[in-house]
Amino acid sequence: MDYTPLRISTVKPLKNLTFDLHIFFKDQYLCYVKKGEQLTEDKYTKLKVQKIAKFFITESDELNYQNFLDNLLSETLSDNKIGSDEKIQMVEGAASSAVERMQSNPGSESAYRMTETAAKSLRQVIKNNPDALKKIFGKKVEKNEELIKHSLNVCALSVKLAEIMKCSEQELDDLGTAALIHDIAIPQMNKNDLPLFYKPRKLLSNDDKRVYYLHTKDAISLLQDKPYVNKAILELVANHEETLSGQGPNKKKKLTRLEEILAMVNNYDKRTITNKTTPMQTLKDMMIDELGNYSLDLLNEFKKVLHTEGLLD
Ligand SMILES: [Fe+2]
Ligand SMILES: [Fe+2]
Repeated sequence: MDYTPLRISTVKPLKNLTFDLHIFFKDQYLCYVKKGEQLTEDKYTKLKVQKIAKFFITESDELNYQNFLDNLLSETLSDNKIGSDEKIQMVEGAASSAVERMQSNPGSESAYRMTETAAKSLRQVIKNNPDALKKIFGKKVEKNEELIKHSLNVCALSVKLAEIMKCSEQELDDLGTAALIHDIAIPQMNKNDLPLFYKPRKLLSNDDKRVYYLHTKDAISLLQDKPYVNKAILELVANHEETLSGQGPNKKKKLTRLEEILAMVNNYDKRTITNKTTPMQTLKDMMIDELGNYSLDLLNEFKKVLHTEGLLD
């Protein structure tokens, strides 16, 4: 049987579950709460204490879980009595689970639908909670979660920037989804090549670049024959490593506004991982290194957003 992982923050206690909830314990999957039953506060707390951060569902329950999560997200996000921390945590859980599912099962329509919903919810949380971006970026990255965190960061920051630049709702939806999945092919890279993700772009040799940039093409191979993935999203994913100076894998010198936003924000967040620089230093470096790679007005607009959102403190 195939099991799909999901985060504990996307399941709430005292709610009737519409799917069987499993945990992985001592090398096996155990049904922890049955369909129709509730996760008690007690059990929920216990799991958190034991640091069991992940649940599993079977493939046959994917749709049931998707509906459950859609309801839970819209209920939670529209509830004024629930604070921003809880909202952020739930949306992060949904987005992380979605990215993880897309990484391990890129051909799954249900994983893709979950990603779309997660991107929308992330945008909603950022729009309605002024402290959301700061809280998202302020979180410590768990071990082995760098790539997922990177995808969430790029999604959060690029939709914020695009919103300020007056992009349409459809564009924001496309950008958000594309940002979450832009690097889904990286975990499929050859194990020996994986360290390239952690290597500063400046230090990549031509050979490194050739190998590393294959993840943009690989992502397209995984997605292009899926009727539910629109063309705008494919283009965004395909061009997320491009620069206006034509140094990207596709050697494009003309980028749409959305492509440029995604590529620039991706570069920014990637730098904080590879160069381990502070946000302020990363921005300073970019204003020097990336002139000509992204338009000056976009870099300046980005600088403003980082500043107003308190991400440079
Ligand atoms: Fe990438
Ligand atoms: Fe990336």
